[in-house]
Amino acid sequence: AQATGSMAGHAGHTGGLLRAGSRLTTAPFTVQMPVPGVLRPTTSTSTTDYYDITVKPGVEELVPGVSSGIFGYNGTFTGPTIRAWQGRQVVVRQTNRLDRPISTHLHGGHVAAADDGHPMDVIAPGGSKTYHYPNDQFAATLWYHDHAHHVEAENLFKGLAGFYLISSPDEQALNLPRGAYDVPIMLRDVRMADDGTLNWVMDDFANRLTILANGRNQPRFPVQARKYRFRFLNASNLRPFGLGLADGSTLTMIGADQSLLPAPDDVTSFELWPGERYDVVIDFSRYRVGDQIMLTNSMPFPNEGDAQKQILRFDVVGTASDSSDVPDELADAPSLPAATNTRRIQLGPFDPPSGTMVIDGKTYDGDRIDQTVPLGATEIWEIYNADTQYGLPHNFHMHLVHFKVLDRNGTPPPAAEQGWRDTVTVHPGETVRVQATFADHRGTFVYHCHLIDHASMGMMAQFQVV
Ligand code: C2O
Ligand code: CU
Repeated sequence: AQATGSMAGHAGHTGGLLRAGSRLTTAPFTVQMPVPGVLRPTTSTSTTDYYDITVKPGVEELVPGVSSGIFGYNGTFTGPTIRAWQGRQVVVRQTNRLDRPISTHLHGGHVAAADDGHPMDVIAPGGSKTYHYPNDQFAATLWYHDHAHHVEAENLFKGLAGFYLISSPDEQALNLPRGAYDVPIMLRDVRMADDGTLNWVMDDFANRLTILANGRNQPRFPVQARKYRFRFLNASNLRPFGLGLADGSTLTMIGADQSLLPAPDDVTSFELWPGERYDVVIDFSRYRVGDQIMLTNSMPFPNEGDAQKQILRFDVVGTASDSSDVPDELADAPSLPAATNTRRIQLGPFDPPSGTMVIDGKTYDGDRIDQTVPLGATEIWEIYNADTQYGLPHNFHMHLVHFKVLDRNGTPPPAAEQGWRDTVTVHPGETVRVQATFADHRGTFVYHCHLIDHASMGMMAQFQVV
């Protein structure tokens, strides 16, 4: 409720009128939600899988019967999924067939600066770049998306996002639902004209009314009456989701952002903000064949209706055996060596006349280092959201590291925030403290708001590990 109220304040500076719904008429829940295909390596060696991706325009029926021009990894709106193994290298060559620069960032990846997809390290039209990912990190749901500065928000909006899933022996030993029962679901919104055109307008949250699950508006997804692991990602530019099942039944949270949780957490709803991931087990064995269960959104913007509240319908179409299990312990709790430094980072305040967004009073400058961190240091970063006047929430994200959320206004986070994270919501007036160890790589990396339009408008800064 707090977040919805906050975003309502956001309307003040866009001048956007909230429409009751798109005029596009569609029969909801007729189209099946696709599951993005797993990309095949072009070659594999004993240590490494090599992939090729071409970034190019494409056409998709995001809404049934209406064609939309999109940008896509390999031309598809939800990019192909890369499946990686802890400790086994992945090398991806990205070729840019768009008429604009791109930069591919592996969100959540512990990678060298040259492989990070830094906002200024762009691939020019016609060019290509090869990224190396060591996967020296926990099993988790990562994703890759565009990050070319000033156009990252538009590039993401048009479709440049895909899943990158890391598995590990520890995770496999848990016997969680897998294979066809381990399903990534990318949620996001777009602003679509009646002819299907995706209309890009910076910071235009109030008119992005078409909600997509794996690139389809209000799809259905057939399930068996057994447990599934869903990996929810919010790839929206600005929209938060409050997810739950219409019958109020249990969702078991098992992972978030960069790791499995120490222990499963049963909830009836959860918030998913842009950039964040939650791995959730839903047990459909409590239903009968023929039952239909709606995945609902309790955080629509004011004046939005069922089209924004009903995201996806699970249709129980059969029964299947289920030997999977959600054990009481999933992963080690994050280890927290003593911190030797504390930094305070201020997000905002927004200045409507300039249309810019700031961190510590400054818009992004790729030639400026904002924080210098010694390699190996463990630090506490206190993130303060100064956007109380317009009530803007921000979603703080750091490259390179994983962090533990210590507290929010002094209160320890709920169980679902107890794992390793890379993105955390900071509401207006709140201070969130996170702790990270900068152990992996030297070099320059960004931190920014993952309401990605805000980053494009300047709410991004850099730390250098030395
Ligand atoms: Cu999702 Cu700077 O990243
Ligand atoms: Cu922001």
